[in-house]
Amino acid sequence: MNLYVKNIAQLVTCSGKEAKHGKEAMNDVGLIEGPAAIVIKDGKITFAGKQSELDLTLTDGCEEYDATGCCVLPGFVDSHTHLVFGGFREEEFQWRLKGDSYMSIMERGGGINNTMKATRNESKDKLKLAAKHHLDALFAQGITTVEAKSGYGMEKEAELKQLEVVKELNEEHPMSIYPTYMGAHSTPPEYAGKEDEFIEYLNKEVLPAVMKQGIAKCCDIFTEKGVFDHAQTRKYLGAAKEAGLKLKMHADEIVSFGGAELAAELGCLSADHLLKISDKGIEALAQSNTVATVLPGTAFSLKEDFAPARKMIDKGCAVAIASDLNPGSCFSCSIPLLIALATIYMNMTVEEAINALTINGAAALGMADKIGSIDPGKPGDLCIIRYPSYNFLSYHFAMNLVKATVKDGKVYNF
Ligand code: NIG
Ligand code: FE
Repeated sequence: MNLYVKNIAQLVTCSGKEAKHGKEAMNDVGLIEGPAAIVIKDGKITFAGKQSELDLTLTDGCEEYDATGCCVLPGFVDSHTHLVFGGFREEEFQWRLKGDSYMSIMERGGGINNTMKATRNESKDKLKLAAKHHLDALFAQGITTVEAKSGYGMEKEAELKQLEVVKELNEEHPMSIYPTYMGAHSTPPEYAGKEDEFIEYLNKEVLPAVMKQGIAKCCDIFTEKGVFDHAQTRKYLGAAKEAGLKLKMHADEIVSFGGAELAAELGCLSADHLLKISDKGIEALAQSNTVATVLPGTAFSLKEDFAPARKMIDKGCAVAIASDLNPGSCFSCSIPLLIALATIYMNMTVEEAINALTINGAAALGMADKIGSIDPGKPGDLCIIRYPSYNFLSYHFAMNLVKATVKDGKVYNF
């Protein structure tokens, strides 16, 4: 698509090709005050800057979008979701509100294994329909790339089924979807107490089938006390790396477990959750290219203290924010809520929150050179908000301000 976006009140580019580490970089949103313009040709950005500097012949053959009174940002990147799942866990949520812990419900056979049963029994079409509903919601909030994990199959056929759903949605929906294989999400009942054997099964039977299927780009694991330990994580991610997948890790969510340090050592794209990250873990991430992904919706839903994002940024980490949409620990993909939690409770600046949802989210997918900023050569993925300054994203809190999402130069009005 060819598109000329004109009269932009404020243009937030988040310009860059790599993760932004630390306070100074994360507070730079690559601001261009209006009137500003963007030109997109064949779906790719060819110009982004002051309107007065634009050679108008560049806009020949472009559809026009008048962004008077609007701030325009890069399309947001949600780098952590469990998009595809069967059933719901609304009862467990009420138990948690009354004081049950997430892990105690999991130990009683609820939690992830509850959703696993529903997902194994659900048809591909029904899984797809349910996932599409959330995809639409994310798209209407300015998300243009979303990561989606498997992990509610935990056996070959059901894992492949989830990944197939991701592939089909990626082809049919304007959203770009980044597929992650997460066989090691929990231990299914047939392997209860036999975690080592389960990892062996995943590596020998499931991973080769996932590679043959050719959809997954990345591999993730729930490294946690009582779920998978360091040795099991090394074995599982080691095999995935050898097979050619990128790596991610659910780390230090419930207890401090050295997950961040291990993620950095293994060269993971990101370590996610980090509610209980240690100072050593922060240091390890700050010294590495592993993005520290915080999931404020999950901490909120679990009524836990938020990840120490302020400290992580001040120590030099590259922090990303993602939704963690899933039917258990966070049944919400409200991007405005995430921005509100990050800026009001986690002491992140609005600029840091924006970089965390754009270029650093892209880096958490190993794609900072491809998406996540408004730079010539990158796809025309934009988030157009109905207010003239990005400050409204935190000020008009928890409200969806998105007027239009632009994907590859095509405008979707909301
Ligand atoms: O990221 N912690 C592990 N995995 C998910 C929760 C999945 C679920 O409860 O269904 C998470 O929070
Ligand atoms: Fe998760």
